Amino acid sequence: MDALDLLLNRTSEPKLVAPAPQGEALETLFQAALRVPDHGALHPYRFVLIEGEGRQRLGQVCQAALLESDPGADDKARDKALHLLERAPLVVAVISCIQDHPKVPAFEQQLTAGLAAHAMQMAAVAQGFGGIWRTGSYAVHPKVRAALGVSGEDEIVGFLYLGTPVKTKFKVPRPDSNGFVSRF
Ligand SMILES: Cc1cc2nc3c(=O)[nH]c(=O)nc-3n(C[C@H](O)[C@H](O)[C@H](O)COP(=O)(O)O)c2cc1C
Repeated sequence: MDALDLLLNRTSEPKLVAPAPQGEALETLFQAALRVPDHGALHPYRFVLIEGEGRQRLGQVCQAALLESDPGADDKARDKALHLLERAPLVVAVISCIQDHPKVPAFEQQLTAGLAAHAMQMAAVAQGFGGIWRTGSYAVHPKVRAALGVSGEDEIVGFLYLGTPVKTKFKVPRPDSNGFVSRF
């Protein structure tokens, strides 16, 4: 796929089925993540693969998180939380790993972790797969953080849902860049 075509026409795909990237294709995603701009070459991220029954196990954590935040949550909401991670065959939790550094503030390290998430999504699209970057309230809930071993300044930057798109999207609308650009 042409690089500009990917940059200009990529879309997120919420409806994903098997297969997800695996083997060499999955390794390509990680290599893309490891190539993003990274001040100080700190590699301030890690990736947790959630697949198979791991999706249900993390779903149970999400359900427990929901019930802690909202003990009166109805059956529909409980069920939604339980099956949240099953919306794709593979979910990659992208987690920032902030290091104390004299020249690279935490903010820049969070950006690098975000770039890694985007690079993985783009590498998936370039190989014919699809994905969507999600966060939501569970990404910051202490129970979900604890389940994924996230503490301190580190963040769950995103859950990257990956798989094969159910349908191909039409061309994306092209917004006018004028409202976002000025000259100094
Ligand atoms: C940091 C971040 C968090 C996001 N969290 C969610 C989310 O929780 N749920 C969601 O539907 N979309 C979320 N999105 C947006 C989607 O990834 C996607 O960009 C959006 O659905 C628009 O689709 P498009 O990328 O094809 O334009 C998030 C995006 C970013 C960058």
